[in-house]
Amino acid sequence: MQKINTGVIGTGFIGPVHVEAVRRTGLADVLAIADINEEVARKKADGLGVERAYGSADAVLADPDIDVVHICVPNNLHYEIAKKALKAGKHVVCEKPLAMTPEEGKELKELAETCGLVCAMNLNVRAYPLLQHVRSMVSDGTIGEIFAVNGSYQQDWLFKDTDYSWRLEPEFSGKTRAVADIGTHWFDLVEYITGKRIEKVFADFATFHPVRKKPLKPVETYSGKILQPEDYQEVPIGTEDYANVQLRFAGGAHGSFTANQVAAGRKNRIWLEIYGSKCSVAYDSEMPNQLWIGHRDGCNEVMIKDPSLMSPDARAYNSYPGGHCEGFADTVKHTMIRIYRDITRDPAGRKGDYPQFRDGYRELQLCEAIYESARTDRWVEI
Ligand SMILES: NC(=O)c1ccc[n+]([C@@H]2O[C@H](COP(=O)([O-])OP(=O)(O)OC[C@H]3O[C@@H](n4cnc5c(N)ncnc54)[C@H](O)[C@@H]3O)[C@@H](O)[C@H]2O)c1
Repeated sequence: MQKINTGVIGTGFIGPVHVEAVRRTGLADVLAIADINEEVARKKADGLGVERAYGSADAVLADPDIDVVHICVPNNLHYEIAKKALKAGKHVVCEKPLAMTPEEGKELKELAETCGLVCAMNLNVRAYPLLQHVRSMVSDGTIGEIFAVNGSYQQDWLFKDTDYSWRLEPEFSGKTRAVADIGTHWFDLVEYITGKRIEKVFADFATFHPVRKKPLKPVETYSGKILQPEDYQEVPIGTEDYANVQLRFAGGAHGSFTANQVAAGRKNRIWLEIYGSKCSVAYDSEMPNQLWIGHRDGCNEVMIKDPSLMSPDARAYNSYPGGHCEGFADTVKHTMIRIYRDITRDPAGRKGDYPQFRDGYRELQLCEAIYESARTDRWVEI
């Protein structure tokens, strides 16, 4: 079988995760990477064992040997690179959010419907094995009628006013921050697992650090020392550190969600609870191999990830037997496996069993409604 050639654009945090996950599919070679200039790209390429290093996204798109492009750069670049990549005839795997606005997202979704190429999103949280099992528990009636869905996505990497990143600047990140950056994963997960659409939202936003200290030199420069006034510039912050969103689902279920990027001690914790008419479930992504199952008339249970105990659909999201933990990197691998299998198929035979541009567009619609609700202090329909 001829291997597929991949180019990964952006080699900060998530780009190398894509490189590793693509290799783990066994279906593709990562032939090229790109970053802001050739020097940065070459250094990264050498570290990752990648042959070709390019100083721009355009250079990857112009490489005729590349079949698939992964977009792992700041949010403001996703739309333009995705559009150019599809025009160049490349399959696309885009990081979330798909674009900066619902209008851009809609255009990309429509392009995806007609271009005959695979247009995927790395909304990888869906691929935790026990969350797949929860999906089966919803669809086979084990949970019963869903009364309420609650949860949060909390982090502490922006806890201090000296913590800084492009994600704090709306021209790179978009007009919502916590909601677009981490909320999108939770909303996608909840709609995917429950099969229920969120139909209206009521949001409350807070910016706990209205002014942050932007380092004037690379952050590593300051590790282990306290910033002096000459080391930083004060920058007003317009996007939310925190969002609390009430949710109403089509068909009657209720819910709530909190995104918080200044939650001390919560490193990267996705929390989900579903309360149904037969039982409840609760999941914490920082303990990804355990699922709590709650009962009214019997003892509660803790299910440990074990493919032999799971539904057949969820079993397919395990690579290892019970007791062998699977986590974040494995979710990206399982997402890529399904995307790359589809790339090998004729368009008519594609399964689409992974997040796609239409899901990315859906997230942008939700972000817009949540932003609008926080701005106007009222319920907003999607
Ligand atoms: N699915 C997930 O779990 C997940 C996790 C982290 C980030 N993300 C998404 O991935 C994207 C990247 O996030 P990150 O945390 O890796 O950011 P990062 O800042 O760590 O890395 C971004 C990289 O893009 C490069 N870059 C910037 N402008 C470029 C340009 N014009 N051409 C080529 N390269 C350029 C930077 O030099 C850097 O190497 C974001 O959209 C983010 O939302 C998703």
